[in-house]
Amino acid sequence: MVLRRMRYAYCVMRNPFHYGGIVGADSFCNREKELTDLLRAMENGDNLFIYAERRIGKTSLIKRALGQLPKDLYIAAYIDLWSTDNEESFIAAYARSLTEAYSTVPQKMLEFAGQFFSRLVPSITLDDVGKPQVTFGMSRDVATKPNLEDVLKAPIRMKQTTKKNVVIVFDEFQQILEYESDLVERCLRSSMQMQEDVGYIFSGSRQHLIKKMVLDKSRPLYRAGGHYPLGAISSTYWISFVKSRFEASGRVISSDQVLKICQYTQGHPFYTQHLAHALWEITEESVTDELIIQAVDLVLEREDYAFSAIWDSLPLNQRRLLEGIAREPSDTQPYAAHFLDRYDLRTASTAQRAAKALLERDLIDRESGFFHITDRFFRLWIIRQHQ
Ligand SMILES: Nc1ncnc2c1ncn2[C@@H]1O[C@H](COP(=O)(O)OP(=O)(O)O)[C@@H](O)[C@H]1O
Ligand SMILES: [Mg+2]
Repeated sequence: MVLRRMRYAYCVMRNPFHYGGIVGADSFCNREKELTDLLRAMENGDNLFIYAERRIGKTSLIKRALGQLPKDLYIAAYIDLWSTDNEESFIAAYARSLTEAYSTVPQKMLEFAGQFFSRLVPSITLDDVGKPQVTFGMSRDVATKPNLEDVLKAPIRMKQTTKKNVVIVFDEFQQILEYESDLVERCLRSSMQMQEDVGYIFSGSRQHLIKKMVLDKSRPLYRAGGHYPLGAISSTYWISFVKSRFEASGRVISSDQVLKICQYTQGHPFYTQHLAHALWEITEESVTDELIIQAVDLVLEREDYAFSAIWDSLPLNQRRLLEGIAREPSDTQPYAAHFLDRYDLRTASTAQRAAKALLERDLIDRESGFFHITDRFFRLWIIRQHQ
């Protein structure tokens, strides 16, 4: 009896908000329209470039859409390019995801690898929960290009042999710009042109890089697909999401208080979950405005290490410009004399150079000619540092 009660108490006391990592169905707020759009693109075999700032929920959305494709009709491969840094690691990651999407039975995986990537050397291991995983090595006497062509041709061959629809997702796609040459980008483009029936979804956090890849005429992937910027989640949906989770765990929060949270986070999923998580933690019964302020402090404290690392990596003029953008109203013109004067930026061209560098790092963004700091909490942190 005691044990049962303890277990019950433990369940009730678990924080119902989750931040960091992919969220599944039980922690997923809305995104109905985005999910429909994405599923339609996948079903039609369209090519799509999804881009949005970090931690806005790209991976969670994509994984949820992939999970809804019927397994008997679709083969869906998800490739995270984050840890790849050259053509070889791209090939290995791609071949691995294709093989694991094809089957989870070791024997079939090896047969598939032998049939589709005859020049690569597969090996199978079991992960912690006994799930087979395949890794690929390169045989030394084969140049990169033939291997690359083998993996790039695999999706259409898979479609032909299995008669299933094939969807390929490349996450953190901008990573391919780190490779030594644009070989992957070029070969991918030409193989996509021959694979009209395969749907390719590209997703990336470095917004300006992804936009450049699709919208710049000189790039191999110019107009290779539609583009889909992913925004924050509207406060209407957060109200029911946050309130129901507080209520289910015996705590009270009003709609206005959720709106206050959303004013801080602007509906950004990671920060909304993070702030709600911190607030839930410090609330015993009912939320108060004072507790919301304390929760914001807690989030800023937890992010302090990461924000300090970014700040310390910036040259002085970029810091000064960032401080100005953080503190001044959103319609301020940062090349105007009084702005330059107030933030010790010598000339307009000094400020322009700093803005260009900050735009390239996606630390700031430009909308209708005005700048804002991409990360809302980084902006708050900067303001606090300079009070
Ligand atoms: N639809 C959603 N509903 C609730 N929280 C979400 C949702 N999407 C993302 N999040 C929150 O944002 C965090 C980052 O999500 P993730 O999918 O990894 O973003 P990205 O791939 O854009 O970096 C998650 O850990 C979660 O806290
Ligand atoms: Mg992601």
